[in-house]
Amino acid sequence: MHEPESHPSPDGVNRRSLLAGVGGLLTAGGLLAPAVAAADPVARPEHDPRVEALLAKMTLAEKLGQLQLVGDEATARTALANGQLGGVFSVVGAAKLNALQRIAVEQTRLRIPLIFGLDVIHGYTTNFPIPLAQGASFDPAVAATDATVSAKEARRSGIHWTYAPMMDVTHEPRWGRIAEGYGEDPYLATKFAVAKVRGYQGDDYSSPDRLAACAKHFVAYGGAEGGRDYNTVDVSLQRLHNLYLPPFKASVEAGVATVMASFNTISGVPAHGNGYVLHDVLKGTYGFRGFVVSDYTGIEELILHGLAGDGADAAAAALPAGVDMEMVSTNYVRFGQRLLAERRITRDQLDDAVRRILLVKVRLGLFERPYVDESGEVKAPSPAALAASRQAAARCMVLLKNDGPVLPLAKTVGAVAVVGPLGAATYDLNGTWSGLGTGASTTPPVTVVDGIKAAAPGARVTYTPGCTVDGPDTSGFAAARDAARAADVTVVVVGETAAMSGEAAARSTIDLPGVQQGLVAAIKETGKPFVVVLVNGRPLTIPYLHDNAPAILEAWAPGVQGGHAVADVLFGAVNPGGKLPVSFPRAVGQIPIYYNHENTGRPADPANKYTSKYLDLESGPLYEFGHGLSYTTFSVENLRLSDTRLPARGGRIQVSARVTNTGGRAGDEVVQLYVRDPVATIVQPVRRLRGFQRVTLEAGASTTVSFTLTPEDVGFYDNSARFRVEPGKIEVYVGTSSAATLSASFTVV
Ligand code: BGC
Repeated sequence: MHEPESHPSPDGVNRRSLLAGVGGLLTAGGLLAPAVAAADPVARPEHDPRVEALLAKMTLAEKLGQLQLVGDEATARTALANGQLGGVFSVVGAAKLNALQRIAVEQTRLRIPLIFGLDVIHGYTTNFPIPLAQGASFDPAVAATDATVSAKEARRSGIHWTYAPMMDVTHEPRWGRIAEGYGEDPYLATKFAVAKVRGYQGDDYSSPDRLAACAKHFVAYGGAEGGRDYNTVDVSLQRLHNLYLPPFKASVEAGVATVMASFNTISGVPAHGNGYVLHDVLKGTYGFRGFVVSDYTGIEELILHGLAGDGADAAAAALPAGVDMEMVSTNYVRFGQRLLAERRITRDQLDDAVRRILLVKVRLGLFERPYVDESGEVKAPSPAALAASRQAAARCMVLLKNDGPVLPLAKTVGAVAVVGPLGAATYDLNGTWSGLGTGASTTPPVTVVDGIKAAAPGARVTYTPGCTVDGPDTSGFAAARDAARAADVTVVVVGETAAMSGEAAARSTIDLPGVQQGLVAAIKETGKPFVVVLVNGRPLTIPYLHDNAPAILEAWAPGVQGGHAVADVLFGAVNPGGKLPVSFPRAVGQIPIYYNHENTGRPADPANKYTSKYLDLESGPLYEFGHGLSYTTFSVENLRLSDTRLPARGGRIQVSARVTNTGGRAGDEVVQLYVRDPVATIVQPVRRLRGFQRVTLEAGASTTVSFTLTPEDVGFYDNSARFRVEPGKIEVYVGTSSAATLSASFTVV
């Protein structure tokens, strides 16, 4: 595994490193052949005189020290005392951070400032809805607002760098980390990832209101087999490039400062040692000039993965592959010197990593302003931030079903029974990764009961939990039934706790946990009107609710103003307009089920046994990608294409359609554009989202929505990772979900 390094070629490019790390070995087998010609140089970080001057002065130990990132104060102090620390994460508090910075800037030889990181995922003190919920808004401005508010709060509190946005596309609702991304579609995920990068970084992330962002997790982490976190990913090159990589490519184009490697293997090679994805694709083809940080002990884990025999091996695989900074584990600082002497890593590789890290520190303005003004620290959400979070949360909710219609509720309702274990939930409304938003010193999120009380001040509002989220005890059902009988309407709030999604929170079934479905059945028995509000971090299998509840509102983990936002939608102050960013399966056995699947040679046909389906389950999802109702109705008509031919080079086609609010109140619709290439050398998905626009229309009003399609929208990567635009017919579908039927076609020439 560890051949001596080759010598740098005259152009300064180390040829062997182009097939770097262990990723290069795979190329022999061909599966992970490079997407780029092996001679493509990797993007070099730009030349900065201050960085070069520092590099010239740094000792080997100091260089290795810049590559070290630690996650607690005590370890940071020890590492600083040895002069070997580049950054610290997960330490919060302006005074604490300044104290650490003071040691780096005043007591180390070269006075290089530390970079301070934190998982500011959907809020620092002000929790916005979880990212999956934000995807449901089909409005990237929601993500941009979250990022802008979060960046300001965190940077003013001394944080420089967030480990967000997470942009892992996934077909796995069992995977708890589905909550952290934007669902199953690469186009939607790309739009949100870019909005977030821009929201965090602005034009210049040295600003006191901005953060350096981190595109994570690179790459294909969402492909975890069985949805079990950290699990194996074996993926074809075409799927890697068509499904998992697009949000990262776009984030690099948007200037993302850093990238985090993922915990999984990619076709046998762990990401942390995968020279193909990190070196060849990210730093080569995409021209990424920032730095790559490992995930938590990700380098050390190369040993348990079975790629490295010991820590030295692990460092020797990770650095040449392209991991610049080591989080928590310490193999670079421990073995770097030895590996250089043994020529298993090169000075060029080391300098490149140090240069990348120092450049991000320069761009953050840390050399000029290493300290944060402690008087400006943000310890609680501002009224404006709370208002932004509430608006975002309501915008993310998806009305899955509304028979009757039961919703919206009248503000003049006499009595409302709130039932269900999440009706009075506080921190669970924040979902996973709640920044500083969970803890004794913070104000808890607004509960659904309190939100309803505030929205309907004249109503008698009761609360009866009925059961816990995941316990077996049904003894509370009787009281819940009584409460429902005594009320005009019951709001049943069920779902998942915050801890049931996020990292290391895979579930083997995705039904409502515990006896919550039984609680809904108990309320149904009363014969009184009721609605179900879901609080959860992933799609759930809810055929029972679909068949039995008159109305279902998907609220996700809505954040710190969750209760108000739920009430805004329940009482119609906000007409829901969110759409599902992910399919809701009928049963766990259907997984993976996603709208952008391939057709097979035998697409499901209920009349023909020998087709692709289950004997014991209706085909297709319970709710399809892009589904979501409103309190009004819409029609989409008059699909028009500006041309019948799209030149494969430089062509453009305008697609337009007329959307009309055909109901009785103002509302939002998300007009969605899908394409399909019915004949291609790599079979194409039955639908691919390539445009969406959320519009607000008064009752009776219409507007024309237009999209531009270019060759990039109809092309795809093949199994040599080459982007192809093939001549032939392209079908276009426009409508209000991935089941849209309004269609037209054009020809790529
Ligand atoms: C997660 C990352 C996170 C890091 C630092 C890891 O366990 O996978 O997403 O940024 O911890 O907290």
